[in-house]
Amino acid sequence: MKIPIHRIAPSILSADFARLGEEVRSVIQAGADWIHFDVMDNHYVPNLSFGPMVCQALRPHAQTADGQRVPIDVHLMVSPVDELAQAFAKAGADVISFHPDASTHVHRSVQAIQSAGCQVGLVFNPAASLDVLDWLIDEIDLILIMSVNPGFGGQGFIDSALRKVEQARARIRASGRDIRLQVDGGIKPDNIRRVADAGADTFVAGSAIFGQPHYATVIAAMRQALAS
Ligand code: DX5
Ligand code: ZN
Repeated sequence: MKIPIHRIAPSILSADFARLGEEVRSVIQAGADWIHFDVMDNHYVPNLSFGPMVCQALRPHAQTADGQRVPIDVHLMVSPVDELAQAFAKAGADVISFHPDASTHVHRSVQAIQSAGCQVGLVFNPAASLDVLDWLIDEIDLILIMSVNPGFGGQGFIDSALRKVEQARARIRASGRDIRLQVDGGIKPDNIRRVADAGADTFVAGSAIFGQPHYATVIAAMRQALAS
């Protein structure tokens, strides 16, 4: 079984919004692999965050010191999906994920994101079943398992997500495709290893990283837990 290299994707939802560009550069310097960009619409979720104009403004900051592009990983918690997804593709997103229950025509949304030149992911809430993958696993690049209810940073990890990660990994393996398996919510240095052992390869962490003064220390602790 081929499990790709682990990726750490800090969620800037917990960053200092008054200094977002600087926060993106600092967390990349601290070792972030992707920038996770949580889009909330006060409709699909009970909170409001930022939109495509902020993504566009941050795009030039999402690179390493030697100029390598760092992927912007957009997590859409919005309904409807398609128009905003297009706007994020234009704003420089690399990966765009959405919740299938937020789209009336899920397959169409997947195709629209791909034809806009982005990788596409499907996101599963804590009580959502993976059944839609029966019909879409051959089309997608990423599966995101929510280990909190979407809408807020700083919540506790929901343990049943581990079982769902195992099931998603089994589906990826059976598909034979190269699909990333991402987990989002309540991830910290002391539980990241359990999430990886269940089969995840990409880890979103907001409050655990931005809630500490030294981002590099937290990211290094996460990598050490993954390597041990
Ligand atoms: C929740 C968001 C998460 C959130 C994670 O709706 O999708 O990405 O920022 O935050 P933590 O790591 O603090 O649970
Ligand atoms: Zn997220």
